[in-house]
Amino acid sequence: MSAEFKVRIEPHGRTVPVAPGQPVLEAALAAGLNLPHSCKSGHCGSCRARLLAGQIDYPAGRPLGLTREEHDAGYVLLCQARARGDVTVEARLIASVGEVEIKTLPCRIARLRPLAADVMQVWLRLPAVEHLRFQAGQYLDVLLEGGRRRSFSIASPPHDSDLLELHVRRVEGGGFTSQLFGGTGLREGALLRIEGPVGQFVYREGTGPVVMVAGGTGFAPLKSMLRHVLETGRQRDIHLYWGARHAPDLYEEDLVLGWVRRHPRLRFTAVLSQAGAGEAAHRRTGWVHEAVLADHASLSGSEVYAAGPPAMIEAIRASFPGAGLAPERLYFDSFDYAPDSQAATAPA
Ligand SMILES: Cc1cc2nc3c(=O)[nH]c(=O)nc-3n(C[C@H](O)[C@H](O)[C@H](O)COP(=O)(O)OP(=O)(O)OC[C@H]3O[C@@H](n4cnc5c(N)ncnc54)[C@H](O)[C@@H]3O)c2cc1C
Ligand code: FES
Repeated sequence: MSAEFKVRIEPHGRTVPVAPGQPVLEAALAAGLNLPHSCKSGHCGSCRARLLAGQIDYPAGRPLGLTREEHDAGYVLLCQARARGDVTVEARLIASVGEVEIKTLPCRIARLRPLAADVMQVWLRLPAVEHLRFQAGQYLDVLLEGGRRRSFSIASPPHDSDLLELHVRRVEGGGFTSQLFGGTGLREGALLRIEGPVGQFVYREGTGPVVMVAGGTGFAPLKSMLRHVLETGRQRDIHLYWGARHAPDLYEEDLVLGWVRRHPRLRFTAVLSQAGAGEAAHRRTGWVHEAVLADHASLSGSEVYAAGPPAMIEAIRASFPGAGLAPERLYFDSFDYAPDSQAATAPA
């Protein structure tokens, strides 16, 4: 067996073992240290840390989520960084989510229901003796052969988790997601292995106004958060924006409109980027982040929760601070492709 290196994480003074070739973030999470992360693909920049001592390298070169300036200033992305010996990094630890145990569990597909032409609602049943404790907004990884994994947000809320609900968008040429469509691959009753809960995209209790921004199936973690707030009697001003190309892509719009009728402190704006004839009647058109900015001259004092395609998340991260949003009040999950799939499509 090849020797392990040590990763020391400051200012906490915690040391974890990391195998050669293993991403530093993976080693830290496996050791129960809850370091910030989201995409695990080197895109979103959430796992940025400062290298204080030692050397790391990246299997596919400097990741896209790290600028040349950041790299030169000694910053690294821990989800991609491989230690070349013992290293010391400076990183933030997140306390609250760390209290939740990450488990690897078998589960069965209990139910499959098409929500739209390319979105499947997947209900997972855990073994009777098992229970997955999670926080609203977290995701799980479906474990595939060869160590590959595919991430999906949990759409059901923690207080209603007998079955775990996922919203899976079919990806063109997608090895895993396409098996859920067309009845030929994964059917009801099929066995999967999952690992979770993962991620820091979790709802924070508070009192200030909240803006939620979903892009496509980015609605899934926000549904978990909204059900958590609305069904446990918490009071909060929340404005949900849901962006999609066409009206059918807002696959649970009626459910949201029902919530809005019953909960006066919830507002909802649907935004279509490619609205067809008649689709825009009670909806806005354009990009969802631009609709938020058009409605909010100032976002200072607000908290923003955003989930969906990487391009939407990048647009939000680039533009919302200019409207007064404090960066530490922006929580997001960027729905990137899995690292193995990105590596396979990356230019040589
Ligand atoms: C934290 C997190 C939460 C997520 N939650 C959800 C969710 O709730 N619902 C949901 O639908 N999705 C979610 N996703 C996205 C989801 O994980 C992917 O869509 C899924 O992994 C695709 O798996 P696949 O095996 O079907 O496709 P893959 O086989 O991984 O790839 C499919 C296709 O994409 C192409 N591809 C790979 N990388 C790129 C790239 N960078 N640019 C363009 N094309 C590329 C490949 O060539 C291939 O044709 C989430 C992602 C993350 C990181
Ligand atoms: S860049 Fe590392 S988690 Fe997104």
